[in-house]
Amino acid sequence: MSIIKTLFDTMPDGREVYLYTIENNNGVKAGIITRGATIDSFVCPDKDGKPGNIICGFDNVAGHIASGTYTGNIIGQYANRLAGGKFTIGGKEYNVTKNENEITCLHGGGEYNSALWKAIIVDDDAVEFSYVSPDGENGFPGNVEVKVTYVLTDHNELEIHYEAVSDKDTIINLTNHAYFNLGTTAGGDILDHELMLNCDYFTPTDEKSIPTGEIRSVEGTAFDFRTPKKIGRDIHADDIQLTQCKGYDHNFCVNGEAGKLRLVARVTDEKSGRKLEVSSDLPGVQLYTGNFMNGEMGKDQIPLSQHYGFCLETQYYPDTPNQPSFPQCTFKAGEKFKSLTIFKV
Ligand code: BGC
Repeated sequence: MSIIKTLFDTMPDGREVYLYTIENNNGVKAGIITRGATIDSFVCPDKDGKPGNIICGFDNVAGHIASGTYTGNIIGQYANRLAGGKFTIGGKEYNVTKNENEITCLHGGGEYNSALWKAIIVDDDAVEFSYVSPDGENGFPGNVEVKVTYVLTDHNELEIHYEAVSDKDTIINLTNHAYFNLGTTAGGDILDHELMLNCDYFTPTDEKSIPTGEIRSVEGTAFDFRTPKKIGRDIHADDIQLTQCKGYDHNFCVNGEAGKLRLVARVTDEKSGRKLEVSSDLPGVQLYTGNFMNGEMGKDQIPLSQHYGFCLETQYYPDTPNQPSFPQCTFKAGEKFKSLTIFKV
């Protein structure tokens, strides 16, 4: 096990952005940068033992800023969308930044993912990133102390431990927005990857990508990934749920008890022979198939074109605070948000 700290780049205001590279005893490596506590790379061997980076990323901060796709970032304070950019806690309405078409709040308004996080090496396989979101940032109540610890084990698991606590009642929904491509972006898009989702239900959305409130069975739909199938097999099916967002961009309800770690998804890529398993204790996962990737220049001078990455964003369901039937994520002042997601290769 080893951790190396190197200079990655600087923020637009000149502050230094560092890259922490954790390497395990199998030669698997995870690189995380302090801007947005972002996964910069995840390098593992293919079937011939050749190492490759399975994360879409950028060579510098300018690349991240220009793209605006949240690539590899930690997302907060509320992952995914809040309808009308508002919610109510204890009868009080809060209005947050409407950074999507001035209609919805997407990914908390964009602060956590673009902030410079503090980092400390806490073990020979672990780096802790922390950020304090001041009361009222993007309209969210509470000074929120957030800690995200990345651990790379010798079982080739990249663990992401989330912790957050606020001094006022608030909503908290944290995720990582990594785009994976098991064949590396040099190998093209991800439509031939096979996906298994441990999810019997999903939450359909309206034309603004806000859940309608329905919890729909995947049975007999293009959303049934309970038996592994290629991501691209049904992506162009004649289903308004797919056509209105140009592919999959939906929350699935993870089977089993939320609060307990369970398998969420397994992805395999026959060509490279690589595999990814995702586990989490959260109630949902957003399958996003990179529908709006539009050729921004990624690492190794390879453009990140449509479907060049897929995301499995473990989360509370989108718009939960406005959907009483969804599992809730309002935390009392002083109450700890704690969660674990594991990406295993
Ligand atoms: C959202 C997409 C969005 C993407 C990048 C996903 O979590 O559901 O609609 O385009 O993030 O922001």
